[in-house]
Amino acid sequence: MKVSCVILAAGSGTRMKSSVPKVLHRVCGIPMIQSVVMTASGLRPEHIIIVAGRHFDRIKEAVSGSNISFALQSEPKGTGHALSCARKALGDFQGTVIVLNGDTPLINPRTISKFLSLHRKRKNAVSVISFIAADPAEYGRIIRNSSGTAVSITENKDADHEQKKICEVNSGIYAIEHTALHLLDEIRMNAGKKEYYLTDIISLSARRGYRTEAFCIGQEDEFMGVNTQQELFRASEVMRKNTVDALADKGVIFMDPGSVFIHPCCRIGQDTTIYPNVHIEGRTTIGKGSVVYPNVRIIDSRIGNGVAIKDSSVIECSQVRDKASVGPFAHLRPGSDIGPGAKVGNFVEMKKAVIGRGSKASHLSYIGDAKVGKGVN
Ligand code: UD1
Ligand code: MG
Repeated sequence: MKVSCVILAAGSGTRMKSSVPKVLHRVCGIPMIQSVVMTASGLRPEHIIIVAGRHFDRIKEAVSGSNISFALQSEPKGTGHALSCARKALGDFQGTVIVLNGDTPLINPRTISKFLSLHRKRKNAVSVISFIAADPAEYGRIIRNSSGTAVSITENKDADHEQKKICEVNSGIYAIEHTALHLLDEIRMNAGKKEYYLTDIISLSARRGYRTEAFCIGQEDEFMGVNTQQELFRASEVMRKNTVDALADKGVIFMDPGSVFIHPCCRIGQDTTIYPNVHIEGRTTIGKGSVVYPNVRIIDSRIGNGVAIKDSSVIECSQVRDKASVGPFAHLRPGSDIGPGAKVGNFVEMKKAVIGRGSKASHLSYIGDAKVGKGVN
């Protein structure tokens, strides 16, 4: 059974109050849309189609991965219309189309796999993931009939007093069989918002007698949709905490886990100690038994085993080999390579400098575009 993914990313994102396209805002250093692409890739889909609009070129430039194509929604006429815009790119695809929102960056890939297997096992035409929200706020409400079957989704704006009290809400993640995609043509414009809502596919499918279900699976946090700066900040906080917790589970020692920022693609080995207010970014790796002292920032670098990175140092796109020591107050600019057991001390700046095994630059110096051999002081 084949699967293709469509990621909706053409909304105007007005609630962000920003000139940056909403889905390019970063959560823990990764543009939201890229996190969604990574989740989609986990399903090994035939296509990943990103629907983009006004910021088409910027989004195209920011996303990387295989099997990705782009569809243009020239005017943001709603989520239902956005999915219709991807149909041409789907060509004669036969199988399940998984629809994801570009503004939902925290989804656990395992939840999506589970959703897809439930959808298939139940032989549904249309399924949606719902979740119980502590505060249902702006999410669409799942409306179930007296026998508990999901029959429609009502947006907060259109919900009456009783419907607003419903805490089971729409995640924005759907599984739609290719044979049900024609329902998109039947979506009518929402009178209030003048948009075509994808949420209407649930009632259209149910009314036709197609197998339609809402699966209430997963954790609330992972479905958090980011529409405002406050939600962006909350999503970042969740991802930050998940990343730190996962590293702690693998034996990384945190002196103050609440104050460190580590991007989710970083790798850190067992028994490495991280002091407060440390930022580790990009694709940095740190080996085992190293110590990173307070106020350090490390970007896209490789740090070995038993290394000490002392207070208030910055390391960018460089390598620090086993048992070397850097800082306090050192700056390694891109392309530096600090050899095993070498020492870069107080107020030393390096750029594209290769320092051999056991060599020392202990104080107040600049070394650029240089190669220093072994055991040099
Ligand atoms: C949507 C759902 C809501 C659900 C919530 C989950 C609809 C009508 N509502 O609301 O039920 O609880 O997501 O987070 O679907 N987009 C386009 N083109 C458009 C409009 C939107 O591509 O014309 C994209 C946006 O870029 C975004 C996604 O679709 O990535 C969702 O749009 P958004 O405006 O954020 O919908 P919500 O109000 O969050
Ligand atoms: Mg949203």
